[in-house]
Amino acid sequence: MRENDALTYYATGDDDLLPIVLDALATARRPTDPLDPDDLAALDEFHGRGRSATVALVRLAGLREGERVLDVGAGIGGPTRTLARHFGAAAVGLEPTDRFRALAAELNRRSGLADRIELVAGRAEQLPFDDGSFDLVLNQALWPSVADKPALLAEAHRVLAPGGRLAVFEIVVGPEPGPLGFPLPWGDGPAESHLVSAAEGRALAEAAGFQAETWLTGLEALTATLDPAEAGDPLLAEGVAGVDLGLLMPDHEARMAALGENIGGRRIELLLGVLRRSPAA
Ligand SMILES: C[S@@+](CC[C@H](N)C(=O)[O-])C[C@H]1O[C@@H](n2cnc3c(N)ncnc32)[C@H](O)[C@@H]1O
Repeated sequence: MRENDALTYYATGDDDLLPIVLDALATARRPTDPLDPDDLAALDEFHGRGRSATVALVRLAGLREGERVLDVGAGIGGPTRTLARHFGAAAVGLEPTDRFRALAAELNRRSGLADRIELVAGRAEQLPFDDGSFDLVLNQALWPSVADKPALLAEAHRVLAPGGRLAVFEIVVGPEPGPLGFPLPWGDGPAESHLVSAAEGRALAEAAGFQAETWLTGLEALTATLDPAEAGDPLLAEGVAGVDLGLLMPDHEARMAALGENIGGRRIELLLGVLRRSPAA
């Protein structure tokens, strides 16, 4: 297994994703420059439950205006746009793949958010930031791609200010572990899939110096991410027909179906957690 297999999965595909997104917006007769970030809502939050999950997660983490947030594995930048627009956060998106970072930068510019979101190249295992740089670190749909969880968690801990929080919304090994059905949204096979159980993830996080404040798995985690949507939260948007994750993953529906089957078989489950870094420096 090559160390980089999981990352290669995301790095492979159309290098220039912008025309694909702009064509889809134009087909839907939506503006492209400037564009309305709400039109991207079904595309740019690259994890289960979309923007509803991001909103639920950062509310549970108590995100306040002006706080410095790092989104590790930022994809094409949907969560960072949500945090900058709706929570007044100073957001940084760390994304290793050139093609996702390039698309995120242009979507930020066309959304009028380029001056409120910084994009940085790098990897979760070795963050290019000084100690104590952030108040909140986000991990969403990142863990399956990162084999070295101790390094991921140690780096999140290092870049957080004392008392800062790590908010995670991830897929973990479920109560009835077994071979997974692929392809999944994060990979084509086991070489690209590095799952831990919720208990293992918590033990690793505690070993890195975190204390869990919120720790929800399975149905409880799902229910928490549904809350904003069910409450008709004004921060949510439906997006636009044809401007969805199928643009990034043409076989998206098959991958989502396999995800649902693995969750139904309890081989994997959702984890939603908020962990606090110790207050001492
Ligand atoms: C499913 S996407 C999630 C994107 C974003 N967090 C979101 O929820 O919209 C996973 C992202 O993690 C990135 N990634 C994969 N391996 C990584 C690593 N070792 N360090 C940082 N990011 C990584 C991928 O390039 C991809 O953009």
